[in-house]
Order: sequence, then structure tokens, then C-alpha cells
Amino acid sequence: MCALDVRPAIGTERLILRAPVAADAAAIAELANDIRVAGNVARMPHPYAVKDAEAWLGSLATRDPRAEAAFAVEHRQFGLVGVLGFHAKSGGGSELGYWFGHPFWGRGYATEAVSAALRWAKGDWRKNVVWAGHFAGNRASGQVLVKAGFLYTGDVEPIPCLARGGQVMASRKMVWLA
Ligand SMILES: CC(C)(COP(=O)(O)OP(=O)(O)OC[C@H]1O[C@@H](n2cnc3c(N)ncnc32)[C@H](O)[C@@H]1OP(=O)(O)O)[C@@H](O)C(=O)NCCC(=O)NCCS
Repeated sequence: MCALDVRPAIGTERLILRAPVAADAAAIAELANDIRVAGNVARMPHPYAVKDAEAWLGSLATRDPRAEAAFAVEHRQFGLVGVLGFHAKSGGGSELGYWFGHPFWGRGYATEAVSAALRWAKGDWRKNVVWAGHFAGNRASGQVLVKAGFLYTGDVEPIPCLARGGQVMASRKMVWLA
């Protein structure tokens, strides 16, 4: 995507959210090849190789920029720490997803990145509604979303987890209103 992507980078105190580029593949693969990461999201293969990162990066060029946007999350000092994206939701709207490398958990990076991405979504991207969901056992992600202003809808959706061999997980749905 990356060469044609004119989205401005979003800066926070510690992080920069920017368009992913082909050169991110190795760093993404190193952090994503971890069942603690892949086992908590729906569509990440495990194990996760550089070719998987390259395939994901290549797929970004085909996305509809009105409904989808992906960001590499870079720490100003440590480099790439995670990935965040808005995906087209079946039935309409955009759904937020994200993951951070295990060495970078527990430092508030996800909360900082999600909050910044929502400010961008409300401002430049002009979204009023963003959806999200987290596996019922993933309380850290629920906490991130609550702190960013999401509310539980009460709906629970069965979602297969690719890294867990397609095991169906209960996903708690959430919504954010600008
Ligand atoms: C979920 C994830 C994004 C959190 O990233 P992070 O940078 O560690 O998140 P933050 O530090 O911003 O915030 C985590 C919050 O969860 C809380 N938390 C952590 N583990 C928890 C647990 N087991 N139960 C309840 N809360 C927990 C933390 O205390 C913190 O809240 P606080 O700041 O109010 O204390 C990260 O663990 C991750 O990438 N996991 C794998 C992929 C994933 O789950 N993606 C989301 C899919 S929905």
C-alpha cells in the first residue's frame, strides 16, 4: 500500500502510528510469531513467518480506504511495537483490531495507540461509530477498549481463531460512538 498511502502519521507522547511499509515485514513477523499474540486475535496464522507478514502487507493495497485503515505502531525509541487496524465489518461499518508484541505489554501502549486512532477516526476519517470485540478471556483487551471509551453491547459472537486451529471463541462485542 504503502508507497501510495498519503495518510499522515499520528504522533502521541511515546508512539507514532503510520502506514505500514514493506520493510516492516521482519519486525512484524518477529513479534507476531507468538501464540500469546496470535491466540488472542481471529485471523493471525501460527506459526507466523516473514512471508505471512509480506502477504498481509501486500493485501493492504486492495483495501477500501473508506472502510479500512492499517497502522504500524512504532515506539519513538524501540521501533515497531505493534499493529492496529480498522477492518470492514460484515453488514457495514468499521471494526478495530490491534496487537502488540509481548515484550511491550503492560506499559499502556495499546491504550495510547487506540485512543489516538479513535481521535483520527473521528476527525480526519469522519467516523461516528467504530465496532470492536475481544475474546471473553482477554480481559486486558477489554480493559484497553473500555479505557478508550468503548461500551459492551451485550452481544457475544462465536469467532473461530485461526492460530488455535479454528477453535471457536466467544467474542464480546463493543461499540464506540464519536
Ligand atoms: C491486549 C493487548 C493489546 C494489551 O496491550 P497493552 O499495551 O499491554 O495494554 P495497556 O498496557 O494499554 O493496557 C492493558 C490494561 O489491561 C489490564 N490488564 C492486563 N492484564 C489483565 C488481566 N489479566 N485482567 C484484567 N486486566 C488486565 C492492565 O492493567 C491495563 O489496564 P490499566 O492501565 O487500567 O491497569 C496486548 O496484550 C496484546 O497485544 N495481546 C495479544 C493480541 C490481542 O489480544 N489483541 C486484541 C484482540 S481483541
